[in-house]
Amino acid sequence: MTMTALPKVPTWTTLKLTTDGRVGVLTIDRPEALNALNSTVLRELEEAMDHLAARPDLGVVILTGGGSKAFVAGADIKEMVTLPAIEARAFTALGQRVNAKMEELPQPVIAAINGYALGGGMELALAADIRIASESAVFGLPEVGLGLHPGFGGTQRLLALVGKGRAAELVYTGDRIKADEALRLGIVNKVVPQDQLLPTAHAMAGRIAAAAPVAVMLAKAALTRGNATDLTTGLRYENETAALCFSTSDIREGFTAFIEKRKPCFEGK
Ligand code: CAA
Repeated sequence: MTMTALPKVPTWTTLKLTTDGRVGVLTIDRPEALNALNSTVLRELEEAMDHLAARPDLGVVILTGGGSKAFVAGADIKEMVTLPAIEARAFTALGQRVNAKMEELPQPVIAAINGYALGGGMELALAADIRIASESAVFGLPEVGLGLHPGFGGTQRLLALVGKGRAAELVYTGDRIKADEALRLGIVNKVVPQDQLLPTAHAMAGRIAAAAPVAVMLAKAALTRGNATDLTTGLRYENETAALCFSTSDIREGFTAFIEKRKPCFEGK
């Protein structure tokens, strides 16, 4: 795809990045604390987002949690307990930045939610493009029960995803919901048995990775912009990104392959 040398994977203490062809799997691996987001995890996640943004060889990213119990059980309460407001401001800004960077990645992100996705963990999942949950996943924004409210973008992203009434109920009550309820509310795309979670995410990632990379990247940009703006501006943006697809050699390959009744062979150009 590219002649530029790929950046070396940084060394992390709480994250793992593995690759399978054009699919990257990023695992938050702090199972002893149910993958809670302390500042080390958040700093490493920010670095991971910068790294992934510089990996044109990866067409899709799967984000999941290490261990069998949790995707991420929230921001680290033990670290936050002593945080003065000014440091809490920097901590939540870091959490917001991680999620914004994930949303701005060129690659689509599939959150494979393998257990608890609470507080900052649910907020992290909300910044992914697609969410697949295992039957054992549990969602919730319990912050108000702790004396704060969601601060990693959760109020805004949940609002955009499910509307004011449903977001308000989850945020104000802090209720936990199971995967089937999350599916009913439109928070997740599908629910599968735990042992099918990663295979399902990989199967979907494989279909995305087989599509024209630039078209997928521009489609993600259009969806992300559209979510954050009015319809007229979003449509104008879509018009430009759709036109930009016509500057790629992959579009010629896609059209020609259709006409020649064969599978396209995309190069990401
Ligand atoms: N922060 C720090 N540590 C956490 C944690 C968190 N959010 N969630 C779990 N842990 C730790 C526990 O303290 C425990 O550590 P020890 O063994 O050292 O005691 C370990 O992970 C295992 O957890 P539990 O023993 O509690 O496991 P459980 O199965 O009994 O319960 C749970 C699981 C229901 C998820 C429970 O751990 C829990 O309620 N966690 C907190 C969830 C929460 O409130 N998240 C929101 C945080 S605030 C936030 O996220 C703010 C924001 O918007 C950015």
